Amino acid sequence: MSLQPHGGTLIQKLSIGKDVSHIQNEIEIDAISLSDLELIAIGGYSPIEGFLTQEDYESVVENMKLKNGVVWSIPITLPVTEEKAVTLSIGEEVRLVSNQVTYGTINISDIFTPDKQKEAVNVYRTDDLAHPGVKKMFERGNVYVGGEITLVNRPDKKFADFYLDPKESRAKFEELNWKTIVGFQTRNPVHRAHEYIQKTALETVDGLFLNPLVGETKSDDIPAHIRMESYQVLLKNYYPEDRVHLAVFPAAMRYAGPREAVFHALVRKNYGCTHFIVGRDHAGVGDYYGTYDAQKIFSNFTADELGITPMFFEHSFYCTKCEGMASSKTCPHGKEDRVILSGTKVREMLRNGELPPSTFSRKEVVEVLIRGMRETVNS
Ligand code: ADX
Repeated sequence: MSLQPHGGTLIQKLSIGKDVSHIQNEIEIDAISLSDLELIAIGGYSPIEGFLTQEDYESVVENMKLKNGVVWSIPITLPVTEEKAVTLSIGEEVRLVSNQVTYGTINISDIFTPDKQKEAVNVYRTDDLAHPGVKKMFERGNVYVGGEITLVNRPDKKFADFYLDPKESRAKFEELNWKTIVGFQTRNPVHRAHEYIQKTALETVDGLFLNPLVGETKSDDIPAHIRMESYQVLLKNYYPEDRVHLAVFPAAMRYAGPREAVFHALVRKNYGCTHFIVGRDHAGVGDYYGTYDAQKIFSNFTADELGITPMFFEHSFYCTKCEGMASSKTCPHGKEDRVILSGTKVREMLRNGELPPSTFSRKEVVEVLIRGMRETVNS
């Protein structure tokens, strides 16, 4: 029997091909809302069936729970401008449109003005506009529309060969006869530290679900198409084929650190994972969160409330004295023996065509990244 989705039922809100052309009013949605629409529809965000109503929104912002008590840490909202909001009414069905294409509909059950200041402080732990998630949140419309959605048209699948809906990933894990599956979220290439924590987890579970986020990220993150190529060469050269499954996670990155770690875990539960890796500064950006805040936040919930087991890892690195990967839990040596490079530093090296050391990143991965970065600069 497969693992229960969050809230007990895998939500399915798809009615692909349904004719909704008779619906006059429309809401133009951005890339974040489009990916949220799809993820709600395919059950990635179960038990959520639509964009949050005011009661659910306030409950999530305040308590990290939906109003029915189910844990949910990130508000999934549909922002519109004030001008648009006055054209909408409760009870109305409206088309959700991006670049003149209708992707879905919403049955409007709520229209409300959120306290964005509070959302920033509670969800992101800062109202600093230099934080990319906070900036984005304030840039989006000032009125939120709540209500159940239907997806009538699938957005183009980026990386179609690696695209699984939660229903499909669940079926895949059954087919592989994996009983315990650890999910791994990343918005970066997989470097040696990532590989180390994945493989350490893999020593105790049946399979690894490598599930890189390919939705909207901040502009200086490495583009998804380059990362996807790097994951494939890494898996081909360094992982047993029958213990890893690579599939994309189409969500946008929020950079909400601790709260996003909980959200990432719950969504992977819906994809069928039993375990989820949370390492150092998960989903963090800059210095907004403490190194292990994204682990500590899980202590707010019982194992039953979560229904997925987080696996926590210390900051990992290559130690030249140990001659291997380690963390402060396993290595007695000092800073000077540890190969630690920041993401910013690595991106800078790659852009300059400099090779990060093989103790930091596998050479096959580095080759893909350098080539990819060069092509991006020249295109
Ligand atoms: S994230 O924004 O998607 O979380 P990233 O791709 O860097 O960023 O991290 C993926 C996962 O690996 C996260 O769980 C993160 O905490 C973990 N991680 C990244 N680097 C390290 C490291 N050096 N040591 C331990 N865990 C790490």
